[in-house]
Amino acid sequence: MRKVSIIGSGYVGATAVYYIAEKNLADIVMVDVVEGLPQAKALDYLHAAPMRKYSVHISGTNDYKKIADSDVVVITAGIPRKPGMDRMDLMKINVDIAKKASQAIAEYAPNAIVIVVSNPLDIISMVTLQESGFALKRVVGMAGVLDATRYRYFIAEKLGVWPGDVMAMVLGGHGDSMVPLTRFTRVNGIPVQELLDAETIESLENRTRTGGGEIVSLLKQGSAFYAPGASVAKMVEAIVKDEKRVVPVSAYLRGEYGYNDIFLGVPVLLGKNGVEKIIELELTPEEKAALDDSALHVEKGVEELRSFYSPG
Ligand code: NAI
Ligand code: 2OP
Repeated sequence: MRKVSIIGSGYVGATAVYYIAEKNLADIVMVDVVEGLPQAKALDYLHAAPMRKYSVHISGTNDYKKIADSDVVVITAGIPRKPGMDRMDLMKINVDIAKKASQAIAEYAPNAIVIVVSNPLDIISMVTLQESGFALKRVVGMAGVLDATRYRYFIAEKLGVWPGDVMAMVLGGHGDSMVPLTRFTRVNGIPVQELLDAETIESLENRTRTGGGEIVSLLKQGSAFYAPGASVAKMVEAIVKDEKRVVPVSAYLRGEYGYNDIFLGVPVLLGKNGVEKIIELELTPEEKAALDDSALHVEKGVEELRSFYSPG
């Protein structure tokens, strides 16, 4: 049986466990700093096994050693912003958490593929890559799968069709500058432009860009976790089953699409080796300009990171 460890047993981490267990994808180790929390959630999941008929084992721990020999490790650890804390304070704390998690992964699960979820996604992915010392293809950020599923849902809802029939591609950084690519968005092969007018498509794209924020303002505290958890599970499945799925993920770029040394959302082939190939699409000038703008946002984030962090 494959082994997947989830660092951070909060909303996203625990929801990912649910989807992974339901599909019997791998044994799961839940890790958290809060004593009792991962142990309790793991036990609770096991109680449901007879009814839900999963045969995977799930355990909870506060000890990073237990992630030993994982095939995949998912980083969802972090703290939410607290009153009086500015964005930079939060980033420093979450970078520090990612640093510790990445060093532990390098020590105990040196052959794992790492899926980064913690925000700011494209920045934490960079820290994870540098602190783990892993090959570029073995560190991959989860964002595009989530952003695309939101876009797919909004289109399906508008058309009144089955959401699974809508395929979409969303590139760029994980934030308001993300780039939904209408040209590659289809409903069972039919270009979306044949089914919806330009104004409607634009409003759905805008809703996608602010999809995470919409949930935050409704929840009042915390952020989305069901769709993020399902997105993690889809990526875990692609890796543990070596599915070679074509999905948008945040990948480290070295010249692809004209960008260097940043994590940015691009289509890749995801399989047992992680990012097995970065797929370079021929973009129109408008699409490229939007992606440039998104890359600029990520580059600014990396500059902020460099103001207080250097690897090693
Ligand atoms: P949460 O607060 O429910 O869970 C985070 C967990 O991390 C907590 O249980 C906390 O105790 C734990 N933790 C803190 N430090 C730790 C450490 N050193 N080692 C192990 N565990 C530690 O937060 P939630 O909602 O699960 O979100 C987690 C992260 O994922 C946040 O940064 C959030 O912004 C991000 N996120 C990213 C998405 C994406 O698309 N990339 C989508 C949704 C959330
Ligand atoms: C989301 O997109 C907060 O990144 C998180 O829901």
